[in-house]
Amino acid sequence: MAMSTLILLAYLLAAVLFILGLKGLTHPRTAVRGNLLGATGMLLAVVATLVHQEVVSYQLILVGIVIGAAAGTLLALKIQMTAMPQMVALLNGFGGGASVLVAGAELVRRSPPAWSNQAVAVTASGLIGAVTFWGSLVAFGKLQELGFFRRPLEYPFRQPGNALLALAAVALAAWGAAAPQSPALYLALVLVASILGLTLVNPIGGADMPVVIALLNSYSGLAAAATGFVLGNTVLIISGALVGASGLILTSIMCRAMNRSLAHVLFGVLGPAEEGATADETYGGRIKATTAEEVAMLYDGARRAVIVPGYGMAVAQAQHAVRELAETLQSRGIEVEFGIHPVAGRMPGHMNVLLAEAEVSYEQLKEMDQINPTFPQTDVVLVIGANDVVNPVARTDPSSPIAGMPILDVDKARTVVVIKRSLSPGFAGIPNPLFAADNCLMYFGDGKKAVLDLVAALKEQ
Ligand code: TAP
Repeated sequence: MAMSTLILLAYLLAAVLFILGLKGLTHPRTAVRGNLLGATGMLLAVVATLVHQEVVSYQLILVGIVIGAAAGTLLALKIQMTAMPQMVALLNGFGGGASVLVAGAELVRRSPPAWSNQAVAVTASGLIGAVTFWGSLVAFGKLQELGFFRRPLEYPFRQPGNALLALAAVALAAWGAAAPQSPALYLALVLVASILGLTLVNPIGGADMPVVIALLNSYSGLAAAATGFVLGNTVLIISGALVGASGLILTSIMCRAMNRSLAHVLFGVLGPAEEGATADETYGGRIKATTAEEVAMLYDGARRAVIVPGYGMAVAQAQHAVRELAETLQSRGIEVEFGIHPVAGRMPGHMNVLLAEAEVSYEQLKEMDQINPTFPQTDVVLVIGANDVVNPVARTDPSSPIAGMPILDVDKARTVVVIKRSLSPGFAGIPNPLFAADNCLMYFGDGKKAVLDLVAALKEQ
């Protein structure tokens, strides 16, 4: 069998492994195997590509592997789990940046004919890649809360300006495909698309960042697929298309979870809304603080308890203490379930990953739609470091930045106890009237210590 056929077969096998890997990732039980299958597919694709290339300089590739592996290992070791979204934003951005560079290099090297597949793919790579690169850097800055990115830059005619930039980028892309011999046109396209990337993501408010990250992830896949056409590399086309499609599906899931329309995200009209009630107006004199011993007493005679984890549980690394608490309550005959909001924490599946790490059984983790109807029959809900995802303002104040976001209806339970360190707001930066509700007690403290103290108090009873 000819080498080229073998390589194509290897690409086909890699594509099958990617798809099986994605399928595996749809359930926690099969996720590790899915990840392994995907990684094996990628290894196969890389090896086949290395064997295939007619122009490869293995020395240069080795240098690239060493530098890339060193940077990747360092980042992976250093990065905190709570900073994963920033890391994903950077990785998306680098994917987009790589597409811009590879397509540009191929343009100079091959000078493809006007309107050929390659010429069109080069301009598509340049356009989508540059938008992804700069948009992702802004998303990174916002998630990392870097000073300059904290507040969106305000300037007049933002929307029409973005529309003009988008039109200019598309026109330059078409011109570039018609005259692919001109690197200057490609540079102009990349410049305009870069500005578009910056201005598209700049106005988007913090609470909507998960949707943007998922969308940029999809863009990076599309840019990679376009680069696959530039290089004539089928496995890059397939893997790029898979990333593009799965990113888009994730975007749509996130949109539904936050009650945003995709059109709003695409046109960047999201943003923090007008000022709502201040913390003083919301809390003034109505906060009831509690202690571990009092909370332990609440569980006396309770039949059903729900635990709602949020970002603060991740910061406190309280997942193992939380598992111990659930076991202690269950040993007293109390039914315990976990209510998981789709955007609790800072990345999709954040809470599921942490609780799985602490060996909480999957059966106990209930999604929002499953758990919400059960709150009126729940004796005690313990909210650990969650804020926005249990903020009833989402239901009541149409001008709030989280207006319309479906939330966990913990306020409908008999008693709610909230563990957090202070009355500071969550990611969306707004006060939470739940904390001042009649049936809510605030148990102030670090998530892990508070849960461990509660377990000790329960055991002493
Ligand atoms: P948040 O609304 O961000 O609230 C987290 C709370 O945890 C804070 O109010 C903080 O209060 C508390 N906290 C922090 N460290 C703590 C510690 N060591 N011990 C105890 N509490 C601690 O979290 P959430 O309810 O999980 O909501 C997630 C938010 O992040 C949403 O707005 C969502 O849109 C956004 N977001 C989500 C994602 C995804 S995909 N999940 C990605 C990006 C952004 P104190 O400072 O008073 O302790």
